[in-house]
Amino acid sequence: MRILSGVQPSGNLHIGNYFGAIRQFVRMQEEAAECFFFVADLHAMTTIHNGEELREKAFLVAVDFLSLGLDPARSVIYRQSDVPEVTELAWMLSTVTPMGLLQRGHSYKDKVAKGIAPSHGLFAYPVLMAADILIVRADKVPVGKDQKQHLEMTRDIAAAFNQQYGAGLLTIPEEYILPDVAVVPGIDGQKMSKSYGNTLEIFAPENELRKRVMSIVTDSTPVEAPKPTRGNTLYALLKLFTPPAEWPATKRCFTEGGTGYGELKKRLFGLILDTFREARRRREELLRDRGYVEAVLRDGRDRAKAVIDGVMTDCRRACGIGR
Ligand code: ADP
Ligand code: TRP
Repeated sequence: MRILSGVQPSGNLHIGNYFGAIRQFVRMQEEAAECFFFVADLHAMTTIHNGEELREKAFLVAVDFLSLGLDPARSVIYRQSDVPEVTELAWMLSTVTPMGLLQRGHSYKDKVAKGIAPSHGLFAYPVLMAADILIVRADKVPVGKDQKQHLEMTRDIAAAFNQQYGAGLLTIPEEYILPDVAVVPGIDGQKMSKSYGNTLEIFAPENELRKRVMSIVTDSTPVEAPKPTRGNTLYALLKLFTPPAEWPATKRCFTEGGTGYGELKKRLFGLILDTFREARRRREELLRDRGYVEAVLRDGRDRAKAVIDGVMTDCRRACGIGR
């Protein structure tokens, strides 16, 4: 079983990224035989057009991976741009990808609607993502629900390539989505996302994080009255962070009333700090030792290449390019 996933370095990691993606990565590396996790800096070029900024943000995602528990002894951790073969495979795949498939992609339309420049790179983004996955013949791809369509496209593209060039050349991957935390709400109740400006950042300074938690949008139910639980952002976030043994008591604060939203927000803030205390400490340490992080990425690149070189040789040969 080979697992692969990537995270774009397009902003600071938030708790949606943690529950929707990185927590699964950490769990999977304990169980799966082989794990590949990478910083998708080539993908982030669709939104970041400043070299220095991209380089630093990509580096920081690697730092965050390590801080949150990805272990280079168990996982191959690398930077996408360190394996430029993905862009070559992306080209090969693009020649068997029907235009209609990309035109049906909702992520392109959503991003353009949000004001991102409608470049060819943005349109072809799913092909590059397919290349990331197919280039290591990944079996399973842990992602948030919003990436489901990209995985469907990846399967279609892999099938088209295999159909054209040879059965079994590329492995058809499956997405892995945890249903109960599939979409983490942001402080305004919409899906938490960097692009909505509604995030709780994992590594925000404490006072900033407190301010953000206190500004979670709530309704005007009086302190003494029972609070709604469905569609209640604070309830959903508390459920994510509360240890299971304490959950019935917290749930009663909503269903029985008598506890104000302000108090519940303070409780959430404390839980978030507790959850990430160790990760914050490790992050400080890693930021003082950038050479170590670069060494991890170099080692990851070498280990990724060992797999990628074989797949690329097969694919080039099948397409009639290279030797
Ligand atoms: P953003 O929406 O903030 O730009 P990304 O698209 O970079 O986040 O997502 C990185 C990973 O985190 C993906 O696997 C994505 O599905 C997951 N993810 C992002 N936001 C959430 C969320 N609110 N709930 C669950 N998972 C999420
Ligand atoms: N598109 C993904 C996101 O925005 C990031 C990504 C790029 C990815 N390549 C990938 C995720 C390959 C999984 C596998 O979150």
